[in-house]
Amino acid sequence: MEAKANVQQTGNGKFEPRIVAFFCNWCTYTAADLAGVSRMKYAPNVRIIRLMCSGRLDPQFVMDAFAKGADGVLIGGCHPGDCHYVEGNYKTLRRMDLLKRMLKDLGIEEDRVRLEWISASEGDRVKFVVNDIVEKVRALGPLNMPGKFKDWDREIEELNGKVHAQDNEEATAHVH
Ligand code: FES
Repeated sequence: MEAKANVQQTGNGKFEPRIVAFFCNWCTYTAADLAGVSRMKYAPNVRIIRLMCSGRLDPQFVMDAFAKGADGVLIGGCHPGDCHYVEGNYKTLRRMDLLKRMLKDLGIEEDRVRLEWISASEGDRVKFVVNDIVEKVRALGPLNMPGKFKDWDREIEELNGKVHAQDNEEATAHVH
């Protein structure tokens, strides 16, 4: 998975969100295909990654997508009761709660991550959900996690520098 770190803009300077989508092979991925074949146009801001089941989604994948420059993440799985691996999507649902708490701690707005159940025949639903998340994330603005990581690294370095300076001062005071 490679999402570029820079903020994407169109020629008129308008912010274009980068959305990474993790879609289950058996349902949402097929529905996205159907939307394409049926010429249902949805926003081109989405890069789709196919998983064999939404339950395969490790929360780390979402964190990685943000760390590499995504502005939003969309997850699509089979409807409850329809998972080909029986309860993969229930696992996803439980992980989402944990993930949302982690994202909140990092200051990432809730609307940047979305979980949807979309069956293989619901191409129109893919179109609606993709367009909707793109608009919501556009309203939130760029996330720019790579830039935030740099700021945090700088703050930690500064803090380290202060701690070392203080240690040195104390060590010198003891000597005298
Ligand atoms: S097979 Fe689609 S969510 Fe599990």
